[in-house]
Amino acid sequence: MFPSHRPRRLRTTPAMRRLVSETDVRPRQLVLPMFVKEGLSEPAEIASMPGVHQHTRESLRKAAVDAVQAGIGGIMLFGVPSERDAVGSGGTDPDGILNVALRDLRQELGDSTVIMSDCCLDEFTDHGHCGVLAADGTVDNDATLEVYAEMAVAQAKAGAHVVGPSGMMDGQIGHIRSALDEAGYIDTGILAYSAKYSSALYGPFRDAVESQLKGDRKTYQQDPANAREALREVELDLAEGADMVMVKPAMFYLDVLSEVAKISDVPVAAYQISGEYAMIEAAARNGWIDRERSVLESLTSIRRAGADIVLTYWAGEAARWLDR
Ligand code: PBG
Repeated sequence: MFPSHRPRRLRTTPAMRRLVSETDVRPRQLVLPMFVKEGLSEPAEIASMPGVHQHTRESLRKAAVDAVQAGIGGIMLFGVPSERDAVGSGGTDPDGILNVALRDLRQELGDSTVIMSDCCLDEFTDHGHCGVLAADGTVDNDATLEVYAEMAVAQAKAGAHVVGPSGMMDGQIGHIRSALDEAGYIDTGILAYSAKYSSALYGPFRDAVESQLKGDRKTYQQDPANAREALREVELDLAEGADMVMVKPAMFYLDVLSEVAKISDVPVAAYQISGEYAMIEAAARNGWIDRERSVLESLTSIRRAGADIVLTYWAGEAARWLDR
């Protein structure tokens, strides 16, 4: 006679489970972060990110076309320069590696996908910080904004549909928006890395971009203990004109993502970062977890928490799995 409520009824057959499934992951929602390195002659696999490569200009084109054919929604491009300086000149230089590779991608792909570019100085500075430094060695917020503005315009000119300021400087969205508008790039979008935490999980990415950073980014990236602050960051970015907002990392911050999704009136992205990738890859390589199932479950969890868009190094491969 009991129980009278049987939720298991909705799990009885694959067809039933398919009918009542709440959360989909679709290839179009996935964005593939890619790395292009100046002066490289062969693609080089990143040791801490098996399956992910630093690309040559040529291999980048091919890998990008391949991922777009798999149905992904976009690409986020990072550049690894061969020379760095204190102000990150390689980022603003129209002939810097990121800008030339953006031109390559736009020429190859046109408007068939959304080309996004990292708008941050850390790959280009010899000290590895996301901004320029003041005389006392601290990161100079307002001086950095001027460089970001120039960098964003260079990226828009090179063909980026969307720029992604990831440096967590105050006022970066408003400043970049005005600069793009003044230069006539009114349709170039901004994906704001609004709530970016100072995470231990960026390690493999720093290998990927050969980061020169000593020390940490705690004066500009958020404290992992804080959730309320993330909402404030999102509100400021929305007021400054962000077209999309992002939470980063993803899996350790699903609570933050869920709150951000509730208050945002623009699309919300989440970045499943290098350390999240590395953890699952490492456990799968040991035979401790099932790789494909774990990857898809992780993407589902990020979507379920409220992300419309997921940046993930598995974008191309997952798109192929999801298409089956
Ligand atoms: C900084 C930037 C970082 C990532 C993307 N943009 C790293 C950092 O803050 O050191 C990390 C992405 C990842 O770990 O996958 N421009």
